[in-house]
Amino acid sequence: MSKRTSATIKHRGGIRFCGIKNLSLRGLHDAALLSLALLGMGGPACVRAQSNEATIRFDKATQVFRIDAADTSYILGINENKQVQTLYWGKRLPAGDSFPPAHSDPGMSSFDASNNTTQQEFVAWGGGLYIEPDLKVTFPDGNRDLVLHYVSHSIDGNQLVIVMKDISREVFVKLHYQADEATGIVRRSAEVENRTSDPLTVEQIASGTWNLPRGTDYRLRYLTGRWAGEWALHEQPVQPGKTLLESRRGSTGDQNNPWFAIDKNGANDQDSGDIWFGALGWSGSWQISIEQDQVQQVRITGGPNSFDFGYRLASGAKLQSPYFYAGYSHDGIGSASRLLHRFELGSLLPHAPSPKLRPVLYNSWEATEFNVDEAGQEALAEKAASVGVERFVVDDGWFGQRASDRAGLGDWYVNPVKFPHGLKPLIDKVHSIGMDFGLWVEPEMVNPDSDLYRKHPDWTLNFGGRPRTEGRNQLMLNLARSDVRAYVFAALDKLLNENDIAFLKWDYNRNWSEPGWPAVAPEEQKRVYVDYVRNLYAILDELRTKHPSVEIESCSGGGSRVDLGIMQYTDEMWPSDNTDAFDRLQIQDGFSYVYTPGVMMAWVTDSPTWVNQRTLSLEYRFLSSMQGALGIGANLNHWKTEDFTTARKMVSDYKQIRETVQRGSLYRLVSPQNESEQSVTESVSADRRQAVIFAFLHSSQKFYPYPRIFPRGLNPEVRYGMTALAGKLTSGQPALASGAYWMQQGFDVDLRGDFQAAAFVLQSTGD
Ligand code: GLA
Repeated sequence: MSKRTSATIKHRGGIRFCGIKNLSLRGLHDAALLSLALLGMGGPACVRAQSNEATIRFDKATQVFRIDAADTSYILGINENKQVQTLYWGKRLPAGDSFPPAHSDPGMSSFDASNNTTQQEFVAWGGGLYIEPDLKVTFPDGNRDLVLHYVSHSIDGNQLVIVMKDISREVFVKLHYQADEATGIVRRSAEVENRTSDPLTVEQIASGTWNLPRGTDYRLRYLTGRWAGEWALHEQPVQPGKTLLESRRGSTGDQNNPWFAIDKNGANDQDSGDIWFGALGWSGSWQISIEQDQVQQVRITGGPNSFDFGYRLASGAKLQSPYFYAGYSHDGIGSASRLLHRFELGSLLPHAPSPKLRPVLYNSWEATEFNVDEAGQEALAEKAASVGVERFVVDDGWFGQRASDRAGLGDWYVNPVKFPHGLKPLIDKVHSIGMDFGLWVEPEMVNPDSDLYRKHPDWTLNFGGRPRTEGRNQLMLNLARSDVRAYVFAALDKLLNENDIAFLKWDYNRNWSEPGWPAVAPEEQKRVYVDYVRNLYAILDELRTKHPSVEIESCSGGGSRVDLGIMQYTDEMWPSDNTDAFDRLQIQDGFSYVYTPGVMMAWVTDSPTWVNQRTLSLEYRFLSSMQGALGIGANLNHWKTEDFTTARKMVSDYKQIRETVQRGSLYRLVSPQNESEQSVTESVSADRRQAVIFAFLHSSQKFYPYPRIFPRGLNPEVRYGMTALAGKLTSGQPALASGAYWMQQGFDVDLRGDFQAAAFVLQSTGD
């Protein structure tokens, strides 16, 4: 299911952005059904998905394409000008409804010509276009005009390819569509092919444009952030003009995450209202523009960032854009998130549709920072194992001459002073006490104070003769270079060959600067934006193929490289270096709008936290982290006996509920956003037999009781028993009641004071 194909590997040396898993119809169908059967992600929606298989039909008479999948229909047509025009994107329509042929918009005036006002799937810059283009090229003769017309198409199960061509030059564009049966999410990308006899330069390429029904009452949600403050949810009305979400940092970045969600009619409810959402699968600089034009049409165009972009396409060469995934829900933003979660678990992650549950992990970073050594790590490992930890991870500091962040990056040999016998004794110890072993790496970086830099100063991104800006005392290796790619792969491969390592925490701690590539001709240098990311994916892919049991975490000084592209090659994500359990409520909430809690690493760390000097109980810290994939990052040498007792209980409780948390359907019952005093989440297991509810209180005020909690997603017919993992209900409530009772009547929890937390499990009694 959903394996990388040999065809994928063939593409690696080519010039595709994505070069990744292609599911056949059968494959996707199987994957979807299997994911539904094994993961069953999300109750009633699942049942709907099973009966609504993905189909793509073309009506020759009307020249209309109709894509139907899950609860979504996506309809486009070829109009009289041979443009590919969007006709409908929304709730699935009855099969009997047919669409009249597409007709271009006549335009408003000589200032607003038809090609700007006609809703098109993919437009090139040319012919008087002034809206955001999907493609912009320059030919060597100075011509920069490109006008694409439909030529042909092919349908293969759930995949549609539409071929377009310039009106005079041999430039072809293939628009790829793939519909996911389980969620209705459509994956798009565009491939431009230069069949002229000369090279041309691609100055902008998007994966495609998503058009919304005409309207003025849209609202955009997006995510903003910074280091230690990632994943803030932001909302604003979509207004005339353009909003550009982007990263120019060379990687995904945390200032914006490549995701959008747009609702209509002020529908602000978690579980009702029309919502359109999408996310880019690209870990380089990117952009998503949300544009409301002069005739009140809203279009969303996304792909690699066009700033400083310039990909020279030789005669005969092709360039494929990243994947842009988008979906629709009739059931509010909560449902949109659940569709994305299900898609990630069922189709996207390396082991989809059945990714492994995340083990409970210990990481020594906050405890020891760079001061790692054999004895110290072994002592921590023993303590971690005693509370039920399943994976022990040594963070930064184990390699090269790494005593601080000033030296060592690039030299991936084990430090002989800290680990005089190599890593083996520690790894053996970790195994002997029942855990597997993980290691931190930051392979794309080099410190100027390293053997690697002294030997290969030309391996970094740089403009010849110009200063090289450092970030955290480090420079970026130019992974686009084949020698750098080979070095990075070989270093990691050797590490994995020589040591029994189950897990790599793959870090990336700065943005790009001076993105030059002096070794290639000036006109080729901007390829770095594409080739870097492509090589990163290729290294990850090759490592996974050669070491299939190794799992990888994507970390970037926190949550700076989390996207649907890297997610195809990594098993889990680090949302933020901010491990303050209260701050984390909002951080984790924002993360969950796009990404499943099943990949969201959350550590329990020391109190007061280094972040805010806030003091929180150990139980509060555990409950905050138990909403995702639980880890411990505290200094266990400072724990008291009672802390170990608490931790042992919480880890054991977590193991009872983690499948529900990591694979279930997430409902946000009370949002922690906007300085909320409370936060409540609920996860419902795939079979709806278990629900886990986490409730947090910032501070009590004026003797107000905690708001009543109304669970969602339960089976109304089934009876559920209520137990408290932490905290208690107010007196006089039933211990056993129907799903309908719990959802309609709700329950009251006894939470008072500052920074209080509770957790409850509703378990079906089987009748
Ligand atoms: C980054 C990561 C941290 C830690 C340090 C090590 O900041 O986000 O978790 O691994 O690097 O240097």
